[in-house]
Amino acid sequence: MPDEPRTEKDLLSLEEISGEEVLELLDRAARLREGDHGRPLEGRSAALVFLNPSLRTRTSFELAVEKLGGHAVVLSPGTDAWKLEARDGTVMDGDAAEHVREAAGVLGALCDVIGVRAFPKLVSWEEDRKETVLRAFARHAPVPVVNMESALSHPLQALADLLTLRDALGDLAGRRLLLTFAYHPRPLPVAVPRSVLLAACRMGMRVTLARPEGFDLPEETMDRARSFAARAGGGLEVVADPDAGYPGAEAVYAKSWASPAFYGRFDMERPRREAVRDWIVTGERMARTAGNAPFLHCLPVRRNVVVADEVLDGPRSAVIPQAANRLWTTMAVLDRIF
Ligand code: CP
Repeated sequence: MPDEPRTEKDLLSLEEISGEEVLELLDRAARLREGDHGRPLEGRSAALVFLNPSLRTRTSFELAVEKLGGHAVVLSPGTDAWKLEARDGTVMDGDAAEHVREAAGVLGALCDVIGVRAFPKLVSWEEDRKETVLRAFARHAPVPVVNMESALSHPLQALADLLTLRDALGDLAGRRLLLTFAYHPRPLPVAVPRSVLLAACRMGMRVTLARPEGFDLPEETMDRARSFAARAGGGLEVVADPDAGYPGAEAVYAKSWASPAFYGRFDMERPRREAVRDWIVTGERMARTAGNAPFLHCLPVRRNVVVADEVLDGPRSAVIPQAANRLWTTMAVLDRIF
């Protein structure tokens, strides 16, 4: 069974399109934000399949479809649509009443694009990294599939992150980004930090990845990030001190993620996680950055756990415009497809 996207217009991760196409999407998003758009989705529709909750992705995608003249149908399998099975060859005698093969075929027959959000189960990294649900939709849908966040990637978020960084810093090549781990009481997926790290390295930014020992991002991600950075003339350094990355940083992006070392055994990770409560973005830490470094986070964010109120409510916080940029970058993705 081929693992590649079935149509060339699929967007399963930013790494599957060229760096030039990423830049083109950002330029297109900026133009759309200026009001420069037609109605390429007139008479067309999008099926948005959410296996997990969403505020930003759902709102921005629905509005993007509407602004471009189309209609969006939102489905939550297991809640208001049939629970889905994605594995091939299974005996479906459990909870799932519908296979992705039929769901993708039907939605593809009725709609012109399918968005899929399917988070990892956080039990087995080997299983999660297969992105079974997303890839099954891409294989079986006769129309383009857009990833609305999977185990590995959140391309729509990464595009909005790049647009927000560009709004603040201009050309990103050579600019210094601190991507810092932040404490969170629960293990979270790596899709967002992985996507922003790869995207920033691809743009030639000089990235400092700050994380406690034991909370590395997957090795494959780090290898790819180093390769992107080398090719783009940027840089990537890794530090294990919560304070070390702030001096000189021109932008700060905070996110929490699960420790790959304890994947699926998170009860054993807990003591280590509790020991990194001081990995929080504070006003004092932000004050050590260069100039007016903006603070970014994909949201939702836990106040005074990941980031202090003083930062989130202060003038450096870019989280609202960052989330608002989700509309323009999603419109750019749809505009590219149609
Ligand atoms: N950042 C993001 O994807 O937000 P939602 O989970 O609310 O869609």
